[in-house]
Amino acid sequence: MGLSRKYGTAITEGPTPADATGQAPLPYPDGWAAVAFSEELTRGKVLTRPLAGEDVVLYRLGTGALRAVKPYCPHLGAHLGLGKVDGEDLVCPFHFFAFGPDGACVRTGYDTAPPRSPLGQYPVCEVNGAVFVWRHHDGREPDWTVPEWHEVGHRPARSGVWEMAGNAQEVIENSVDLGHFATLHGWKRAEMGGPVRYDGAEFRLSMRAHESAPVLGDFTVDVRVEGYGLAALHADVHTPRIGLRMCTTVLPTAIGPNRMQLRQLNRLTFDEPARLPAPLARAVSRVATRV
Ligand code: FES
Repeated sequence: MGLSRKYGTAITEGPTPADATGQAPLPYPDGWAAVAFSEELTRGKVLTRPLAGEDVVLYRLGTGALRAVKPYCPHLGAHLGLGKVDGEDLVCPFHFFAFGPDGACVRTGYDTAPPRSPLGQYPVCEVNGAVFVWRHHDGREPDWTVPEWHEVGHRPARSGVWEMAGNAQEVIENSVDLGHFATLHGWKRAEMGGPVRYDGAEFRLSMRAHESAPVLGDFTVDVRVEGYGLAALHADVHTPRIGLRMCTTVLPTAIGPNRMQLRQLNRLTFDEPARLPAPLARAVSRVATRV
């Protein structure tokens, strides 16, 4: 998988534009939030990721199952992100207390009876190549899911992650801001395919953009978007004139006040690229990059 990753810390070192307004930051979203790509969590791996102003510790058991836990050991508070996976257990780095898949302490480093203090676990799921953790401000259990999306083409997704100023809510709202596709992204003209449809934590919309390019002339770009909570957008992009299909998955995650990590997975394919003559193929390539 081609990766362009940056888990930088630059934005935590100074005020963001939103901080500078002095206004209260938006609340952290409830629900699922992406905290890693699946392939970052190989068996036995332990990762620490920021989520809503706190650390979340992620690890993959020997069986391949994932766990997400609160960062501090219930014994004396060591950071479990420095721990190790031993088979099906997470072992704290300080006094070697070990915690089983259900979070219960199963042994101590002193060979004494394990105490009854379990790890604080978060619901975690893995779908579409990403790892999602459920967090709710009042501790509510998950009441919606992130569905599995279809894929296009046979190549692995290209993925990237960026840490930046902003809020997950703004990313999701962007998908229904028709105007910015012309002003910011340079689309010639775009229209909605109908009203936005909402169903619980989900929404769906479609739009059509009218574009033109050298050699190709005028063409349309059809876009279908599905949104899930403030966690995930999935867009299907189809350009019938040139047989281009693209799936893009956008995963904004609040990590601190006015700060987020933005993950993206992209897949792109052409229906029948072999039929295109060379000049047209080059034009297609330029247009695809632009789209
Ligand atoms: S602090 Fe974790 S075992 Fe003591």
